Amino acid sequence: PEFSILILGGDGIGPEVTAEATAVLDVLSSHPNSRATFKLVPRLFGGCSIDEHGVSVTEETLEQGRQCHAILMGAVGGPKWDGKRRGFEGPEGATLRLRQVTDVYANIRPAEYFPGGRSPLKEELVRGTKFIVLRENCGGAFYGPKAEEPDYASDLWAYKRSEVERIARMAAHLALSPAVPVPRVISCDKDNVLASSRLWRRVVQETITKEFPQVKLVHQLADSATTLMMMKPSSFNGVVVADNTFGDILSDLAGVIPGTLGVLPSACLADIPVKKWGDKPVKGFYEPVHGSAPDIAGQGIANPIGAILSAALMLRYSFGMEEEAKAIEDAVNMTLDSGLKTKDMSGSASTKEMGNAIREYLRKR
Ligand code: NAI
Ligand code: MG
Repeated sequence: PEFSILILGGDGIGPEVTAEATAVLDVLSSHPNSRATFKLVPRLFGGCSIDEHGVSVTEETLEQGRQCHAILMGAVGGPKWDGKRRGFEGPEGATLRLRQVTDVYANIRPAEYFPGGRSPLKEELVRGTKFIVLRENCGGAFYGPKAEEPDYASDLWAYKRSEVERIARMAAHLALSPAVPVPRVISCDKDNVLASSRLWRRVVQETITKEFPQVKLVHQLADSATTLMMMKPSSFNGVVVADNTFGDILSDLAGVIPGTLGVLPSACLADIPVKKWGDKPVKGFYEPVHGSAPDIAGQGIANPIGAILSAALMLRYSFGMEEEAKAIEDAVNMTLDSGLKTKDMSGSASTKEMGNAIREYLRKR
């Protein structure tokens, strides 16, 4: 089959790292035994779209987002657009709008110990750590009606049963996948003080125990989860699921474990991942965790690994191409084992050198 992918390089280092990821996809589709080809649809997105079209994302690009099987993004924003526009008006409005129209409610961020990363945590503490943070991405305080006056402001933090059910199912599904070492879901909330958390806890409990009895479910208060995550990270092995607000914080915190922002991928899915090759593709929005890094943009030194691993997640979750996803991840690990490192990892390889080395391992497989 041919899969269509909307390619949104964005701003700053976004286009630099995205180019390395699309070159990886080219290597796969030109392989003699390739089982799929990729139709890449590049568009401006974020600040560069404001400059060119006057809006951070055009209606035509949003329509491509609806139609394409998956979306691969770099990052948006930078000092050029700061202050002038915020929220939906600024570069990040492009991401908010595209997420809304594609209903990608599940944000997945793997957190894993990375040899050669620069985690501030002690090596013996992080070794053996492997979990996924799953953040509910379409509801809660981020999207509830807002009131904003000079001396008063409020955000409505609300959830519906159906929204909690679908994220609980996603958590259980991921807990049973090879992406994590144990079939366990750790659900984080504040049911001692928040009504929305009490609904969350009740619905997560009901859904998982009824539909996925083989998954072990643990409830953890979100505040103490932060301490525990730093003191004993491997105790989170499994899937850490939380609502939009707590998930935002826990997923950034989990970034401490690998120790470098540049290597972390993320995925946002509109449905549970494709189980096997040949199933209908699942809409997904993939991007590295890092931002547009204006401080190093244009120098060709950005680490492309986060973007390349985001493409691997796309193959796995949206297209059911597990072998190819694994091949990319193996190529990244072999490249790092060979000692090649970019500047953020205290090395001196350029973006291109890192991308080329990964593709070389991928071709040799
Ligand atoms: P950032 O992630 O862009 O940069 C933080 C630090 O990490 C910088 O020193 C940067 O050089 C370094 N870094 C980030 N990615 C790297 C990579 N691939 N290789 C090597 N070093 C890397 O976060 P910051 O500085 O807070 O934000 C910069 C801009 O990016 C802002 O305009 C912000 O709004 C935007 N941003 C966009 C995101 C997105 O589009 N998803 C996410 C986060 C920030
Ligand atoms: Mg965040």
